[in-house]
Amino acid sequence: MIYDEDRAIFFEITNICNHRCIHCCKQWEDNSINRIASFETLDKIISLPKKSLTISGGEPSLVRDKVYYLINNESKNITINTNLTGWSKQDIAFINNNDKTNFNVSVVSLKRDIYEEITKSITYDIFIKNLNLLNNKHYITIVVNNINLDSVDFTIKILLLMGFKNILVTPQVPTPNLSVDVNLVINMVKNLHNKYNNIANIVTQGFCNLDFCDHKCEAGIGRFLIDTKGDVYPCAPIHRECKLGTIDTDIDILKRNGTNFFLSYNDQQKFLCKGFML
Ligand SMILES: C[S@@+](CC[C@H](N)C(=O)[O-])C[C@H]1O[C@@H](n2cnc3c(N)ncnc32)[C@H](O)[C@@H]1O
Ligand code: SF4
Repeated sequence: MIYDEDRAIFFEITNICNHRCIHCCKQWEDNSINRIASFETLDKIISLPKKSLTISGGEPSLVRDKVYYLINNESKNITINTNLTGWSKQDIAFINNNDKTNFNVSVVSLKRDIYEEITKSITYDIFIKNLNLLNNKHYITIVVNNINLDSVDFTIKILLLMGFKNILVTPQVPTPNLSVDVNLVINMVKNLHNKYNNIANIVTQGFCNLDFCDHKCEAGIGRFLIDTKGDVYPCAPIHRECKLGTIDTDIDILKRNGTNFFLSYNDQQKFLCKGFML
């Protein structure tokens, strides 16, 4: 079977971050050296065929000049994964009014003590200030673990009052310090999905047997993750030994390697989030 269509590209523009989230899926990486993608790498990202571009990190708002370079030169739709704390009022106004670009905001909790416990940062006030500046076209991601589990209900209620319509609630991919009961989270999302169906789209991801699942796993066949060094992987939480090539590898070879990665799983596992199989 050949999966020939263009991939959604997730690009980690830097590994630098002002937060130290205890659930962060980038903990596997060697972050002893700060890396920021060069303009040469950005040009290669722009020239790659793609369905869409997601700018991730690290924290993209810490390298705003590079983010603007991509916004100004990329023709496909752009999503920016962000903790929201590094953008100015002007940046947010610009993105609010840019039809091609959306934020996907990580909301760990709207309770200050839990936010600070998870992010290990004192950025709550600027986060709330910036959240209030967003219009409701933007996406929200809540990664659930044992620490914020009890505050998810409260957080969702506030987000709905603020007018957000697209909210992804996902159990965290296990990290060295933290995990969560996945079934508990899935049941919670199911209840939230049913309860608020008429006002917002509340979904989870990676569990394709559920009707409130946002997407089946398409690591390698529908998406590529490209890190700051230019190495290409099937998806973000997937371990380093699954490298498919680099940004300089011929795109058809990358597609073939991605397809082989996907087909290496059996039929029961193929469409499930690989982050939970590590
Ligand atoms: C690594 S973050 C980088 C972008 C930005 N700093 C942020 O937090 O949104 C990229 C995405 O991964 C999500 N994420 C981080 N750790 C995760 C985990 N253990 N399981 C699932 N998603 C995770 C974040 O919520 C975010 O949507
Ligand atoms: S803000 Fe994003 S990149 Fe930074 S530590 Fe948290 S999840 Fe990781």
